[in-house]
Amino acid sequence: MAPKNRILAMKKATVMGLGYVGLPLSLVLWSRGFEVYGLDVRERYTKDLCEGRVKMAESFNGEPITSVLKRAVASGRYHPTTDPDLALGYDDQQIILTVGIPLVDGKTYTKDLEAALDTLGNRLRKGALVIARSTVIVGYTRSFIKPRLEERSGLCATEDFDLAFSSERMAENVAFEELIGMVTPVAGLTPRATRRAADLLREMGVKEVLEASSPEAVETAKVFENIARDVNIALANEYANFCAAYGLDTKEVFSIVRTHKRVGFLHHPGPGVGGHCLPQAMFYLKPTADSVGIGLPVISTARKANDDQPVHVASLAKLWLDAHGKKNGKVALIGLAMKDYSTDARLSPAVDLARSLLDKGLGVVCWDPVADLGSISGLPTCVPTIEEATKGADVVIIAARQEPLPEKSPAGLDLLSGMSKPGLLLDCRFAFDRAEVMKNGIDYIAL
Ligand SMILES: NC(=O)c1ccc[n+]([C@@H]2O[C@H](COP(=O)([O-])OP(=O)(O)OC[C@H]3O[C@@H](n4cnc5c(N)ncnc54)[C@H](O)[C@@H]3O)[C@@H](O)[C@H]2O)c1
Repeated sequence: MAPKNRILAMKKATVMGLGYVGLPLSLVLWSRGFEVYGLDVRERYTKDLCEGRVKMAESFNGEPITSVLKRAVASGRYHPTTDPDLALGYDDQQIILTVGIPLVDGKTYTKDLEAALDTLGNRLRKGALVIARSTVIVGYTRSFIKPRLEERSGLCATEDFDLAFSSERMAENVAFEELIGMVTPVAGLTPRATRRAADLLREMGVKEVLEASSPEAVETAKVFENIARDVNIALANEYANFCAAYGLDTKEVFSIVRTHKRVGFLHHPGPGVGGHCLPQAMFYLKPTADSVGIGLPVISTARKANDDQPVHVASLAKLWLDAHGKKNGKVALIGLAMKDYSTDARLSPAVDLARSLLDKGLGVVCWDPVADLGSISGLPTCVPTIEEATKGADVVIIAARQEPLPEKSPAGLDLLSGMSKPGLLLDCRFAFDRAEVMKNGIDYIAL
C-alpha cells in the first residue's frame, strides 16, 4: 500500500510563476496527469486564469491555450492560485521555479526571485525536489538560490532536499511544442538531484533530457545560447544597415549569403532585439565574467548596437521625410510586439522605435491588434486596422508581423493602398516584395 500512495503523491507538482514560461509548462504537467498548483503573485491575472482567460498566442497540438486552460481548471486537478500554503502544502514536493530576474533600468532586478525563494523556503519540506527553470546569473543556483532556500527552510540542499537547474529554451508562440520537443539540459547539485530532476522532466514528456555535470555548465550554456542570438542579430542588423545605405536589396543579399554552406546561419535583421530573454543575456554573464577577470568586448558592442537600432530606424524615416520636404509627414508603425505574431511587448524594440519617432517630432500612428501593452506608457495613438494606420502615411514601418500580414509569402499591397506617394516602406520583417512595392511608386528599404 505504501508504494502506491507514494506514486500518487509524486504526481503532484507546483510551478512558481505562471507567465509566458510557467503557464504552458504547468499545463504540460497537467496534460501528463499531474495535479498541478500554479503559484503567482498577480491576483487579477490568477483569477482570470481560473476563469480560462489569458492573452497568449499559444496552442497545444492545435488547441488554443485558453481552451486547454479551461479544460484543465474544469478537471479539478489544475489550481492557479496566489495562496502559497495551498500551492506548497503537500509532501514529496516537486517545484519548478519560473520567476525570473528582469532587467530594470539596465540592471538585473532580483527582488522577485528573492521573494519567490522566501515563499518557497518557508514552506519547503524534507524530500522536496526544486528545479530552477528561470534564466539566472551564471552561478546563481549554487551561490544564490541554495543558500536562500537553506536559510529560510533550515534544511540542507544536498541532504534534505534536492536542487537542480534546467535551462528553459522555449520560444513564445511555440511554447508547448518546444517544452517537450527541445533537448532539455539539467544538472543538480548532486547526482541524486540530477537524476530526480531528469526523471520529472521525462515524466512531463520531454523527449530528450541532457544530464550535465553541474548547474554552472547548464546556466552558462543557456546564457551563451541567448548571447549567440543577440550577437548574430547585431551582425545581421549591421549588414542590413549597410545594404540600405548602399542601395541594395537586403533580402536578396541575405538570401545569397545563406546559400554558403559554412555561413548559412544568419539571423533576420530588424528594428532591434526585444523580449524577456536576449536583451538580458549579457547581464547574466557579466557579473561572473567580471569575477574571473574576463572582459566581454564583442558581446557588449553587439548589445549596444542592438539597443541603438530602433533609433537608427527612426532616423532613416526622418531623413527620408526631410529629403522629400515632408517635415510634418505621417509615420505608420506596424506591429508593437517584440517579435512576429506575439502578444508580448516587453522590452520591445518597436516600442523604443515608437518613442524615438515621437522624440524626433514626427506624427505617428500605431497598429497592433494583439500586443499586450499593459502598463507601457508614452505610445502614439493606436488604431484598429492596418488600413487605417497606413492611410495617408508618408512612411510605413513594419516592425513586427501580426495577422493579416502573412508569415511566408509577401503581403499584398492592398494593405498599403492608402499610403501617400511618394512614400517609403521601411520593412524590418521582409514582409513585402521589394519589386512590387517599388513598381507602385513607393521607396523600399529592407532592414
Ligand atoms: N518568455 C520566454 O520566451 C522565455 C524563454 C526562455 C526562458 N525564459 C526565462 O524564464 C523565466 C520566466 O520568463 P517569463 O517570460 O515566463 O516571465 P513572466 O514575467 O512572463 O512570468 C513570471 C511570472 O512570475 C510571477 N511572479 C513574480 N514574483 C513571484 C513570486 N514571488 N512568486 C510567484 N510568482 C511570481 C509573475 O507575476 C509572472 O507571472 C525568466 O527567467 C526568463 O528569462 C523565458
